[in-house]
Amino acid sequence: MSAAMKVAVLGCGVVGSQVVRLIGKQAAELSARIGAPLELAGVAVRRPKRHVDVDPALLTTDPMALVERRDVDLVVEVIGGIEPARSLILAAIACGKSVVTANKALLAEDGATLHAAARAAGVDLYYEASVAGAIPLLRPLRESLAGDHLRRVVGIVNGTTNYILSRMDATGAGFSEALEEATALGYAEADPSADVDGFDAAAKAAILAGLAFHTRVTAADVHREGIADVTAADVASAKAMGSTVKLLAICERVSAPGGDAVSVRVHPAMIPRTHPLAGVNDAFNAVFVEAESAGELMFYGRGAGGPPTASAVLGDLVAVARNRLAGAPGPGESAYADLPIRPMGLTDTSYHISMDVADRAGVLAAVATAFAEHGVSISTLRQEGRGDQATLVMVTHVAPDSALAATVDDLRKLDVVRGVTSVMRVEG
Ligand code: HSE
Repeated sequence: MSAAMKVAVLGCGVVGSQVVRLIGKQAAELSARIGAPLELAGVAVRRPKRHVDVDPALLTTDPMALVERRDVDLVVEVIGGIEPARSLILAAIACGKSVVTANKALLAEDGATLHAAARAAGVDLYYEASVAGAIPLLRPLRESLAGDHLRRVVGIVNGTTNYILSRMDATGAGFSEALEEATALGYAEADPSADVDGFDAAAKAAILAGLAFHTRVTAADVHREGIADVTAADVASAKAMGSTVKLLAICERVSAPGGDAVSVRVHPAMIPRTHPLAGVNDAFNAVFVEAESAGELMFYGRGAGGPPTASAVLGDLVAVARNRLAGAPGPGESAYADLPIRPMGLTDTSYHISMDVADRAGVLAAVATAFAEHGVSISTLRQEGRGDQATLVMVTHVAPDSALAATVDDLRKLDVVRGVTSVMRVEG
């Protein structure tokens, strides 16, 4: 066997502690798979006393010194956030060490800098755990599908919001009630904003779109809407038309004047219950990929949690260790296509709109005119009468999102419309 491959682990929280545990428990197997002994060189933590399960000789409060140690070959970054993670990863790369990270926020904000540094240093930067936890997804996109032409990647990539929406669908609960339940069960953080407002899913969408379309995509390129405004009425309305509400990360290659472009967005949407993503419930994640030759593919599993995320980290660790032993890094960033980002307003979407109206002659004409004035075509219309009032439920054909939003604004101003009770995009 070759000389030992030494690993520094930065961060020992929910994921890091499992990485450390599994490196110890599976040392012999991992070493056999790599072809060299895999050894822990050290674990950087903030409060060593809290980590009673880790050999105290391995613990340090100085992550930079650990990264720069001459005997460290590989660095696992599971601290999260932008700093100090970025400085530590760049330092590791500058010292010629390959890096495995689960840091979606950093990759989505400044992946270009990290990738450029890794390329210049001839080392690996692997990040399978950054999107959808345990699900093998980034490697299939980057390697298995490298010979195909991807059209669309649509995913449920946030377990917390999927749990909340699943409960709203199953019980008829409102958002706040379902969030309280998710918090009590430990699915939602004390500050649930990163999940509920779609920031977590948007970072993952940026990473997925970049890989799928060989284009640099940052979190700022992603149109983002969370689930805090999804009401029990929206969910009931979805049910009435055989659909369910999911927070989707949608990455699409779209035709645009002058050539193709990329549309990346995160928002709640109604999808038919027959769609494969509709059956993905509770805190599970799933990603549906549409490729020209492969057709439709679905990736499903646990998107969060210590052992599932550690599984993805360890898979990357074995890969980068093997590459190091072979003396050649694996595939790096592929951004050659450099497609422009399509603004949300120009992206074609379809809306479900439910409104309370007066039930008398001329109302439908006034409502239909609002749609026609923005060039929006109605696909289906359902009316439920209630005395001199009625509820109109309309689903549109696809139209530019800005035209649909302008239509809704105009509907709200109509005298005959007593209230627009539900507006949501429809997918699938
Ligand atoms: N907070 C995320 C989720 C997991 O709820 O899915 C980490 O990305």
